[in-house]
Amino acid sequence: MSAWAIVVAAGKGERAALGRNKVFAMLGGQSVLRRCLCAVRNSGVFDGVVAVISRQDADLFSAQGLDALVDRTADGGETRQQSVYNGLKALPEDVDIVAIHDAARPFAAKALFETAVASARRHGSGVISTPVSDTIKRIDPESGIVSTVDRETLRAVQTPQAFSFDKLLQAHEKAAAEGFFATDDAALFERYWGNVCLVTAPDAERNRKLTTKADFQEEKPVMQCVRVGTGYDAHRLKEGRKLVLGGVEIPHDRGLDGHSDADVAVHALMDAMLGALALGDIGKHFPDSDPAYRGISSTKLLREVTRIVCAAGYQVGNADVTIVAQRPKLSPYMKAMRHALAEAMDVDVSCVSIKATTTEKMGFEGEETGISAQAVVLLQHIREEEQ
Ligand code: CTP
Ligand code: MG
Repeated sequence: MSAWAIVVAAGKGERAALGRNKVFAMLGGQSVLRRCLCAVRNSGVFDGVVAVISRQDADLFSAQGLDALVDRTADGGETRQQSVYNGLKALPEDVDIVAIHDAARPFAAKALFETAVASARRHGSGVISTPVSDTIKRIDPESGIVSTVDRETLRAVQTPQAFSFDKLLQAHEKAAAEGFFATDDAALFERYWGNVCLVTAPDAERNRKLTTKADFQEEKPVMQCVRVGTGYDAHRLKEGRKLVLGGVEIPHDRGLDGHSDADVAVHALMDAMLGALALGDIGKHFPDSDPAYRGISSTKLLREVTRIVCAAGYQVGNADVTIVAQRPKLSPYMKAMRHALAEAMDVDVSCVSIKATTTEKMGFEGEETGISAQAVVLLQHIREEEQ
């Protein structure tokens, strides 16, 4: 029995007032719609996915690279119900089960899709619902509270909502002919086919619909994306060169050879920062074929990488660097190195760790042919990237 999903994304997002359809807004580095389509696909439940997109959002949909996440698209309608109907008409004829899901619910867990579809296979319908935790009052706008509703008899209904495809399509056809409108598909199914099967699943409480601006503001810290990167560098020791490590000049009989000041610690750190954002490496950003970088202080380049990270909407959370050198003893310079790096990365010194180790005379570091360094960096998302 084949199952397809329809993701409705063709609203205007007026209540969210974000200046564009809310489902294209970024949340923790990814658009709401991308998160939603990934959740649907990664549930592993569906044989195909249709996205219902408004014509005016078609360019945005392509620009965000979302075509690759769907099998088909359909045009949006004036109302959500018309959008779903258009989605249903875009499905292949031999589909057995269809699940409708709001693009505005990007946190739907795999279990929700599994449960809704399993119920539709068995009973013809499966609609995710949750118990109501607030006490609900029935009111009269003039006289105030009329009664208190027993909340045990209430359920809040969300999406995904899964149904036998033929029956839901017929319900939509009948509703369109009759001019009957409802806010969800369960209401249509119920009207023409009787009882709808309500199901629940773990994480249904987390599956909120992003509706208002406050919903987006509240989710931001939760979704605050962290990214991690690693870096490694090694340079050869050479007589007649200054030794610069972690932005600090260290008295020694030899220094590291290279195009810039060959500060391996800063190079590893910059590669970790660029790596965290999948932006390539320092060779790409500061090619050693460019004379502008000859003899340049690596901390200057670190400031530039910090600017790149910031323009992408991130800041350094913390960085941990290990320098591997047999000699000289680095402990007297650790504090100065941490301060130099923290200053270049615009972070507090407590966010920067430098460690040093020897290799007990093994390998090129132990034989003092060269010095190497490794770095791990965590970046925190602070705001949407500059457009
Ligand atoms: N939707 C749709 N077509 C419409 C209206 C809504 O596909 N004509 C989709 C929305 O994109 C959303 C889902 O239905 O994913 C739930 O609707 P809602 O939360 O009301 O979103 P909007 O209609 O976009 O928001 P608003 O009502 O605040 O304008
Ligand atoms: Mg709406």
